[in-house]
Amino acid sequence: MRIALLATNPKLYSNKRLMEAARARGHEIDFVVIRDCYMDITASKPEIHYREGDVLSTYDAIIPRIRPSQTYYGTSVLRQFLAQGSYCLNGPVAIGRSRDKLRTLQILSGKDINIPKTGFADSPLDTKKLIKLVGGAPLIVKLLEGTQGIGVVLAETNKAAESVINAFKSLKAQILVQEFIKESKGVDLRLFVVGDKVVAAMERRAAEGEFRANIHLGGTGHKAKITAEERRMAVKAAKAMELRVAGVDIIRSDRGPMVLEINSSPGLEGVEAATKVDIADAMIQHIEKHAKKKTRING
Ligand SMILES: Nc1ncnc2c1ncn2[C@@H]1O[C@H](COP(=O)(O)OP(=O)(O)O)[C@@H](O)[C@H]1O
Ligand SMILES: [Mg+2]
Repeated sequence: MRIALLATNPKLYSNKRLMEAARARGHEIDFVVIRDCYMDITASKPEIHYREGDVLSTYDAIIPRIRPSQTYYGTSVLRQFLAQGSYCLNGPVAIGRSRDKLRTLQILSGKDINIPKTGFADSPLDTKKLIKLVGGAPLIVKLLEGTQGIGVVLAETNKAAESVINAFKSLKAQILVQEFIKESKGVDLRLFVVGDKVVAAMERRAAEGEFRANIHLGGTGHKAKITAEERRMAVKAAKAMELRVAGVDIIRSDRGPMVLEINSSPGLEGVEAATKVDIADAMIQHIEKHAKKKTRING
């Protein structure tokens, strides 16, 4: 098959692994840099041009790996590939939705998937009520578009929560307020879903003195044993988001597992190292099963 990896940095571990895995299974794969594409939207046949070359020929499948800062342009290019009839491992609409934590939680909640108690408000006049709604401090304040744990703050008292929420609001930052699952003790699960299967499960443990388990903040990854309920929950959550590849973050609470967030471009490095699963290969196999080989006029 002819595959394109639509991403930014060919030196990233995940991208190198995907290129390798596709070639190892006998496919042709091009690394297409998102920012080097420009598009002819009006053409009767949707075209994608490449800065260094000509019009890109069409691909059977696209593996999108769009970083959060490039969501808008990256999903625009992906839409163009979709218009050409390429199979997109994750679609542009699903990727766009997954970039907003509130929207994600609303979708999950609509499908009866457990999430921590979460509130959202526009006006600072509602801050006190919002704090009450999630059960009071300690609580979590979260930037809707934060990643790598950076936009996640723990407020220990109601007073602290109120000032943090109102400070974010005065900066026009979009935030959600969430109950703090303290019984998780800085541990969460990253379940890697491909298609309708959890192909790898990793437990992340936060660094000493930290409640956020993100690897970028010094968290460590370990192979995890998960329950059938957690497995079902991750697959259901990915399906609700219409993602074929997803990193589903789950936290274990006294009220059972809850989904924290879903990543549409989950990194491979930490999970492959912790679990020894060849995730890149699983992604390519999924494409083989689901993408149709196109007949091409221009080779
Ligand atoms: N409600 C919560 N209760 C306890 N810990 C949380 C909660 N929300 C997030 N965390 C911790 O913070 C980390 C980062 O939060 P997350 O929502 O995944 O944001 P990010 O996109 O920045 O990774 C999680 O992996 C988890 O360890
Ligand atoms: Mg996370």
